[in-house]
Order: sequence, then C-alpha cells, then structure tokens
Amino acid sequence: MSKGGSENIKILFVTTEIAPFSKVGGLGDVAGSLPKALKKAGVDVRVVTPAWPGVLDKAEALGLKLTKVSRHVYAAYNWEIKQAEIYKTEVDGVLVYFLKADDYNGDMYPPQLNFWTASPFAVFCLQAIELSKSINWTPDIFHCHDWTSAFLPCALAWHRHYRQTGLKSIMTLHNVAYQGVLEPSPFIEASGLEPWSFNASTMEFYSQVNLLKGGIVAASAITTVSPTYASEIQTYESTRELSGVIYQQRHKLRGILNGIDVDYWNPASDKLISKNFTLSDMRGKYQIRKELLNKAGFDPETQDPVVVCVSRLVDQKGFGLVIDAIERLPQMGAKFIVLGTGHEWIENALLDASARHPDCIKLFKGYDEPLSHLLYAGGDIFLMPSEFEPCGLSQMISMRYGTIPVAREVGGLKDTVIDVDNPDGGNGFTFLTYDTDGMLWALGRAIARYKDKDAWQKIIARGMTEDFTWDRSAELYKNLYQEMLNA
Ligand code: ADP
Ligand code: GLC
Repeated sequence: MSKGGSENIKILFVTTEIAPFSKVGGLGDVAGSLPKALKKAGVDVRVVTPAWPGVLDKAEALGLKLTKVSRHVYAAYNWEIKQAEIYKTEVDGVLVYFLKADDYNGDMYPPQLNFWTASPFAVFCLQAIELSKSINWTPDIFHCHDWTSAFLPCALAWHRHYRQTGLKSIMTLHNVAYQGVLEPSPFIEASGLEPWSFNASTMEFYSQVNLLKGGIVAASAITTVSPTYASEIQTYESTRELSGVIYQQRHKLRGILNGIDVDYWNPASDKLISKNFTLSDMRGKYQIRKELLNKAGFDPETQDPVVVCVSRLVDQKGFGLVIDAIERLPQMGAKFIVLGTGHEWIENALLDASARHPDCIKLFKGYDEPLSHLLYAGGDIFLMPSEFEPCGLSQMISMRYGTIPVAREVGGLKDTVIDVDNPDGGNGFTFLTYDTDGMLWALGRAIARYKDKDAWQKIIARGMTEDFTWDRSAELYKNLYQEMLNA
C-alpha cells in the first residue's frame, strides 16, 4: 500500500456507467472525465465497468484498441463461481477494464429491483475486488459511485471472505434518491455477507436491503458532488429517513464539486456542431441557433430568445413546474426546445403542448448526444428548475457554450449559478423556492434582459470564462486519498 507520495496512489474507479461507452446521465460524464483529471494530478487511476450490451462495439467504433486480458476474473456468488472476460482499453491515458459476462446482458437500470435484477450489481462489485488477481495491479482504494456499486464497501465490511482484508473504499453519492432497495431474502444468503450483517446499523433499512445505506455506513469515506448537496442530504426535507444515517456518518462526508470535461465540451473545437465559436467570435453560435430553430420548425430569424433544456424527463429536474406553467409559456416571448426522455407523463404533456403551440414549444423525445450539442450551442437560455440537484453538469456545459442558465438555488446549481443581479454580478438567473411563479419570475427576468444586447453579452462572457475544469476538485480527491492512506 502506498503512503506519502501521491504519485503512487492506486485508485480503482468502480462504476456501472461511463462516457462515452454507457452514459445515461451525469454519473457517466463524471466517470469518463474525473479519472483523466486525477491522472493529470499524478494519481494512478484505473476504471472497471460492466460491458453492457453494445459497449464493446462502441469502443471499437470509436477506434479504441481493445485487448483481451488472458485471465478471466472469478467471484463466488449464490453458490456459483461467476466469471467474466476482461477487455481493456486506454482512454486519454486511463486504463479502462470492461467485464463481459452473461450477468451484464440485461438492463443497466432495471425498472424493478429484486434478487435477480440486483445480483449483477453485486457480482460486478465482487469481481471488481477480485480483479487485482487477473491484472497484476492492486488498488489502495476502491472508489465507488452510487447504489450500483455500493455493494462493494458492504462486501469489504461484512463479506465472509473480504471483511478482514483491511481494503479501503470511498462511496461517492451522485444521487441519494436512488438507493437500490430489495427484499433481504435470498439476497443476503446468496451474497456471501455474514448473516449478522443484516441489521439496522448496517444495510437494513425498514426491513429491506438498502444498498446505498450499506455503502454509506461501510465505506471508509463518503463524498458527494457539491458542498451544498453535502449539507442538504443531512436534512429530512432532502433525503427523508436516510438523512439520519447520513447525519450520523457526517464525520467522513465531504462535498467536492464536479467539473466538466472542458476538452470535450468546447465550442471552439466541438466536432458535433457545424460551426465552432469562441467568446471573441460568436458568429458560429448564431448560425447554429438558426439551424436549431429550423430543426424545431420555428422561424429561424426570430428575435425571441431560444430557451433550451437537455435533461432526463423526471420529477427531480423540475418538470412539475414546467408542465404547470406550460400554457403561460407561449405568452412569454420566447421559443422553448426540450431534448429528453423519461417519465411518460412528462413526455406526453410536452408533446401535447408542442402540438397546441407548434410555433413555440418543441420536444425532441429521446437520448441523442449530437443533438444535445446543437441545443447547448444554439440556445440562448438553459432552463434547469430542479427540485433537487446533487451537482448538475448541464448548467456548466450550457455556460461554456454561451447559453445562460435559469436555475433553482438548490444543490450544485446553488454552487455554480450566481444570479446576475447580485452586487458582484453573476452568470445566470436564479430563484429560491420550488414553485411555478418563482421559476416564471426568473425566466421572465432572463427573457427581458436578453433584449439588452450589451448586458447579455457581458453575462455570456462571464459564463464562458468560468473555470469548470476538474483541476481544483481533482486536487481535493487526491488529498482525500492521501489522508486515507496515511490514516
Ligand atoms: P443527471 O446526471 O441528473 O441526469 P447532469 O446535469 O449531471 O444530470 O448530467 C446530465 C448529462 O446527461 C449531461 O451531459 C446532459 O447533456 C446529458 N443528457 C441528459 N439527457 C440527455 C438527452 N436526452 N440526450 C443527450 N444527452 C442528455
Ligand atoms: C447525478 C445527479 C446530478 C450530478 C450527476 C453527476 O445524476 O442527478 O446532479 O451532476 O449525478 O455527479
């Protein structure tokens, strides 16, 4: 185990989602970009992730060289030996290991969690622990992310084979709303955990297995993705009953703000947009704006601001407010374009609204990476009225493309979006209380300010020059790793 020099710290990122192979949301972005920044900061970081259907093909399509590791990885689960093939590739200097097995042929995010659908996640965690035997490299710390890898800290604490190994883990909480809850039987018996480990001070939560709770209790350290969310999750309003557990574990919790991959999200070099642009030459942006308006079926010459939103269509993101306000939007003097997929009620409400207001509201239904770049680059205003937001990356991405956020002051949005009417100026328009009028008030201010071209350009300049790199946060993670190794 390495002590002292950070150059020697060996970290294994254990994640079920990673850009550009299997991204669903921000966790994928973080798993794809934070390791690169850690590597730059001198940490020996590698990543392990399941080869979900299509993932290896994606790697090949991206022109990456995939090498099959000669040894498989083996783990005991449910009285069977579960084995997986290991493929490795290098992405921006970071080694990524893909585990390929029938266990990973199902849904990445199963709609129902039960013994059968939860088992692949437990198997993945056990195989991540066993991986060192096949790759001849042993991590000092396992860095786990969300409920899908929360079984790993549990196994290090309570599994009959691993609980005395002294291996360390970090649990990063990207979203406490998803906890991995299932019936204890037969999961506990099958998992290899000591039977005594299922109780209120471990992973039991209201008679169910709660994987995230187990991870929070068992991990050597916990981080979450913004300082504000780190304090919010200790309150009942934010995380209900789990807030008590997090509060008890607060001595090992810290909030480290996410960054974004500024090389990938770069209007000056982005290959997914038709024209590149910079703060000193914005002509490209205004051309892309026309393309976006055309694609949405709107007047490409409109003087109204284009309000965009790229999001999972779920309650968290504030669509309750958007749908509640939907009949008032057409009178606001703006165009509204949403790209997203998610809950049917939100999709349907947006589709109905766009049928009623075809010249001003448009939903592109689906998950579409290239199209998301068109919205970020072609929009004027980015709407993000989240009910809660652990960090949020979209507001940072949009600012980088000169698209000004209207956001609620919550979680990481509060830490990154500063209202322009602050005495020191700001980079967006914010509102505090989760209500429709609050959102419309902030949106109304943004739409009105848009008409003042000089003022607007200054806000764009502030957003486009914000430092959203990973550099500062990578140092904070590195310090944490170092402290853990020296402890
Ligand atoms: P969350 O992780 O809660 O979904 P974030 O703001 O942290 O929210 O990250 C969302 C990421 O997913 C961003 O990179 C965003 O561009 C991307 N994204 C969300 N929905 C879509 C979509 N429909 N198509 C393409 N990208 C999307
Ligand atoms: C989660 C959160 C989001 C955060 C992302 C990456 O999906 O909902 O706020 O930015 O994880 O940490």
